[in-house]
Amino acid sequence: MSVIPFYGAEHPELFAIERAAMDRPGLVVDRLNELLPRGIVLDVGAGDGFTAERLTRQDRTVVAVEPASGMIDRARPLTWVQADAEELPFGDGAFQGAYATWAYFFSRGFDPALGIAELHRTVRSGGPLLIAENLGGDEFCALASSDISADATFWARRGFRPEIIETEFAFETTEDALRLLTFYFGDVGPNPPTRLSYRVGLFVGRSRGPN
Ligand SMILES: C[S@@+](CC[C@H](N)C(=O)[O-])C[C@H]1O[C@@H](n2cnc3c(N)ncnc32)[C@H](O)[C@@H]1O
Repeated sequence: MSVIPFYGAEHPELFAIERAAMDRPGLVVDRLNELLPRGIVLDVGAGDGFTAERLTRQDRTVVAVEPASGMIDRARPLTWVQADAEELPFGDGAFQGAYATWAYFFSRGFDPALGIAELHRTVRSGGPLLIAENLGGDEFCALASSDISADATFWARRGFRPEIIETEFAFETTEDALRLLTFYFGDVGPNPPTRLSYRVGLFVGRSRGPN
């Protein structure tokens, strides 16, 4: 698998609307913060660094890996590495943990096997591997004409246990909702809701370490 093209590189202002709206209460970041250790952790498919910046603490450095130069926001005070999930330019066991939020690990339509192997290799044995994806069964995913949720059985087969985070997409204005929802789903009418229920699957695994 190579780089999956993502609209945010061409339309950063639209991506900013999405990032601010999705999981507006910040429950996913809160849970990642609880599960990630101190030390050096990896964010794969970091996008513009929204999540990595929020998970950086005095006792934790987040290395943000992102292949698309148009996504990388160097204004954020992060360590950026331009690379693909499938070929991480780091040594065995270099990180204490890793996560990917809505990144390349879609379990429908893409095969993330190579990327998962790279996570096991680069995270020390026993360190957490955390994957956040759409879980489906909510008002946001119901707008799509095809299934845009992760395949929970895919993750279960690989030893990842699911946590369900009930959160919401909440837009600041109807105009923002109209722009993003039309972009994603086509005609949603002139007055789409500014708040939509949204369920996130956080798939929690442990690194086996390098084979
Ligand atoms: C939906 S965005 C999510 C960004 C970020 N994780 C977040 O939560 O805001 C998906 C990101 O994955 C990146 N991506 C695409 N193909 C990839 C690959 N093969 N390896 C790593 N990242 C990839 C895209 O460039 C994009 O920035």
